[in-house]
Amino acid sequence: MIYAANFKMNHTRVSTTNYILELEELISSKSVLSEDDRVFLFPPATALVPSSKNITVGAQNGYPAQKGAFTGEIGLSQLEEFEIDTILIGHSERRELLGESQDVVAKKFEFFKESGFEIIYCIGEPLEIREKGKEAVFEYLWSQFEGIDIEYERLIVAYEPIWAIGTGKSATAEDIDEVHKELKNKISAPILYGGSVNSKNIASLKALDSVDGVLVGSASLEVESFFGLMEA
Ligand code: 13P
Repeated sequence: MIYAANFKMNHTRVSTTNYILELEELISSKSVLSEDDRVFLFPPATALVPSSKNITVGAQNGYPAQKGAFTGEIGLSQLEEFEIDTILIGHSERRELLGESQDVVAKKFEFFKESGFEIIYCIGEPLEIREKGKEAVFEYLWSQFEGIDIEYERLIVAYEPIWAIGTGKSATAEDIDEVHKELKNKISAPILYGGSVNSKNIASLKALDSVDGVLVGSASLEVESFFGLMEA
């Protein structure tokens, strides 16, 4: 299983550093991870730190350039300082709130692919598309792969239906299984589920062969809660 924590705009440099120390301690002392399990942490840009023994630290965002006149952005030079080579691209909050079009998302993907980054590429449909039925859902999701190299060897896909993010209302195991199986017909990369993953639904997600891991927001903010998902 892959366990990825997306802190979004939560935590500071100090609290992230403490979190990583505590999580490393829990992982080593309780040895709940198997050889194939992986743990990722995406803190805010101001709290980037190098990865530790069991935890790969990645960036929530990056501008597709080494450096330059891009006010407010961080690029490859800034990420390299912290030895970051993992990035989230296409998160629905960036698409919806920051207005990132598929074109922008694809440019970022291409740039960080060329830079050799491991990419967690996020897709997910809004409620109005879900309500139109399966055909509309799959049409929408496949459109989010426009300009994306689905054969990239350092690709991980995260399916995060927007209506399930931060709402406490996770998609059902059947809905998730159906989408993941359809994606797996064309994509060989691991596929994560994200959207209100918590201690109550983690067991049913882990039970699905089509779910290779989870991308967790709220339930990752407290170290005990995130570790609880690994223990479950
Ligand atoms: P929540 O787990 O808070 O629903 O957030 C999911 C998410 O957006 C992770 O990227």
